Amino acid sequence: MTFANVQWTWMNGEFVPFAESTVPLSTHALHYGTGVFEGIRSYAVDGEPALFRLDAHLERFYESAAVYGLRIPFRPEHLTEAICGLIRRNRLTESYIRPIAYMGAETLGIRAQCSTETAILAWPNMAHVSEQSRRRGARLTVSPYLKFDARMMPTTAKACGQYLNSRLATMEASRRGYDEALLLNIAGNVAEAAVANVFMVKGRILRTNDEKSSILMGITRDSILQLAVAEGFQVEVGAITVEDLRNADEVFLCGTACEILPVAELDGSRIGRVSPGPVTDQIHNAFDRAKTGASREWAHWLHRVAAKEVSVATTVSK
Ligand SMILES: Cc1ncc(COP(=O)(O)O)c(C=O)c1O
Repeated sequence: MTFANVQWTWMNGEFVPFAESTVPLSTHALHYGTGVFEGIRSYAVDGEPALFRLDAHLERFYESAAVYGLRIPFRPEHLTEAICGLIRRNRLTESYIRPIAYMGAETLGIRAQCSTETAILAWPNMAHVSEQSRRRGARLTVSPYLKFDARMMPTTAKACGQYLNSRLATMEASRRGYDEALLLNIAGNVAEAAVANVFMVKGRILRTNDEKSSILMGITRDSILQLAVAEGFQVEVGAITVEDLRNADEVFLCGTACEILPVAELDGSRIGRVSPGPVTDQIHNAFDRAKTGASREWAHWLHRVAAKEVSVATTVSK
């Protein structure tokens, strides 16, 4: 990931040069993690950028904000145009876009209600996963860190401070030489990876868990559930145990950053016979066709970035 070619960001309604997009030291979110964000990708569709499942990402953005009492003073149409404008100004095609809304800098009281600052950063595609681990399949380890329970912090909100849990699990897994950490929930079942959801395959059935297992409800996860049905697989949603994963034919992780990442082993034990397995491959191909506009059926998932600016009504009052 590099910000070397990022010239423009967007902050509170204005395009701002990257070097000037700074925040004051008293920013509430810097101290307490009181912000929410999204990770969205654009892909090349007929050579032009198109945003994948933008509406779903924006919907989750506003929902996460509501959980933490953040009132985003812009309408979704305005954020959509801001994202498209950033892509145009930074001359991006394949990109990763990070909208963030966070508590501002007026006070550091824990119960204070500061202003909601809204900003967007976009950069050329991020490679969350090395090509090597994608080819050979990820080496996953059960983390000694548990996923916090949804009753401690709502796991369905994508909030800044919540990522300390992911950070600890990732650091610990890396220290032991693994690619990815698998976090269990307080019931001892599978929750999710640090920044990705988990699927397992048994025969013609794909299985994943849901918010009852303390996960972020991933948009890639939702896309895969829909793609799998269209590809003729059966899908099941419910709790998954570590034993289920060990006995699965295939396991893969999914998320905006890693897309679909085959898992080759769990704590040193191989999963299935080959990695990537044939079902993971088929789902991956279906996902690739959807994100690049090759399958008409999923064209509604793509928001094409218009070549020129579109004017939209500006702010909702603060
Ligand atoms: C904790 C966590 N779980 C799952 C996901 C996958 O979600 P999505 O597919 O919406 O990117 C992410 C990534 O955003 C994440 O951070």
